[in-house]
Amino acid sequence: MNILVLGGGGREHAIAWALNKSPKCEKLYVAPGNGGTAGFAENVAGLNAEDGEAVLEFVQAHEIGLVAIGPEAPLVAGVADVLRAAGIPVFGPDAQGAQLEGSKTFCKEFMMRNNLPTAEYLSTDNEQAAHDYIDEKGAPIVVKADGLAAGKGVVVAQTADEAHDAVRECFAGAFGDAGNTVVVEECLTGPECSMLAFVSAGKAYCMAPSQDHKRAYDGDEGPNTGGMGAYSPVPIVTDEELARMEEVMAQAAAATAEEFDHDYRGVLYGGFMLTPQGPKLLEYNARFGDPETQVVLPRLESDLVDVMLAVAEGRPDDISLQWADKWAVTVVLASQGYPRAYEKGKVITGIDAADALEDVKVYHAGTAIQAARELAYKACDLIQFEGKQNRTDIGLRAINGRQSWE
Ligand code: AMP
Ligand code: GLY
Repeated sequence: MNILVLGGGGREHAIAWALNKSPKCEKLYVAPGNGGTAGFAENVAGLNAEDGEAVLEFVQAHEIGLVAIGPEAPLVAGVADVLRAAGIPVFGPDAQGAQLEGSKTFCKEFMMRNNLPTAEYLSTDNEQAAHDYIDEKGAPIVVKADGLAAGKGVVVAQTADEAHDAVRECFAGAFGDAGNTVVVEECLTGPECSMLAFVSAGKAYCMAPSQDHKRAYDGDEGPNTGGMGAYSPVPIVTDEELARMEEVMAQAAAATAEEFDHDYRGVLYGGFMLTPQGPKLLEYNARFGDPETQVVLPRLESDLVDVMLAVAEGRPDDISLQWADKWAVTVVLASQGYPRAYEKGKVITGIDAADALEDVKVYHAGTAIQAARELAYKACDLIQFEGKQNRTDIGLRAINGRQSWE
């Protein structure tokens, strides 16, 4: 079968890599793809992944039997709707389902209606109402732009002044239309855990839990980013917490089938905080996490083509997931300055040497997170570019245990 993956990040590299392992995968296209996918798939640079009609034309011309949508933007833009209407099996929810990620207000209302555990909040398009809510509740408090802001529209304010500034910034247009409405919410505490689930026809099949490192610098200092590293599984999660997260994901999947016009078919990503009162949802995303996918999919032993097709065709009972009993750690090497203004176009060396090492990692990673961490960092040391910036403590708190969050 010919397969098309939309997207060009590390996440799509991991998705394409896992699909390519399947004997059912014949020709694999990635649009636009990246330097990593070019090694084993055909990159399609000229296709606009957010233009449903253009994607459909490509799919028909290349006899594609499955489309996997990586990022949120094409989902929110309704690319899955166009493909599905033409009878193409597509992995990814339609625009309505993608609103769970596209609008934090839509998501919070979905959670409240369905009794899913989450922080207390106010959603408003009235700036003064947001300021009043902050004065009433006090700090710490969290301010979020309602719409998509590439992971940068959230401020966890330690003081009321900081929260008021964040509200002012939002309404002044720092995030464009995404900030016309803000969500102000209770600040939760505890370790975070990402629970991704394959969802189809109202059923959820949870993947192995993983943990992202959102802050830019070691020790969880500095600004929030799109993710600086991740590991899976998450040893600090208790069996009780795991069971509760799976229950919440199942409840949400059932709600998508009841409430939405069309079946939700893709990944539902629950971003949880493990609070003293139990796991609570910070957000839902409508897609695979980045960089969580890079540590989750390498542990999937089941054929991803089978899984994605079952999801895309609404056959949840055919989904079966087997996981390797191994640890995975991924470290993001960012350009200097990230997540603020940063330089592009630097020459990167050492990728081939690190990749060769990665094969060693695939076969010899053993079962300890410590070993996975050492291998990930060994690979990172081989890759060089001017101004290379990375965290040195990915996975360390998993090794140090739960008390390191307290
Ligand atoms: P979000 O985009 O909603 O996942 O928020 C990005 C990050 O902000 C999360 O991963 C958390 O680290 C933090 N965050 C979001 N909401 C809250 C909250 N209610 N309490 C504490 N931290 C939060
Ligand atoms: N790792 C955070 C995200 O994918 O949204």
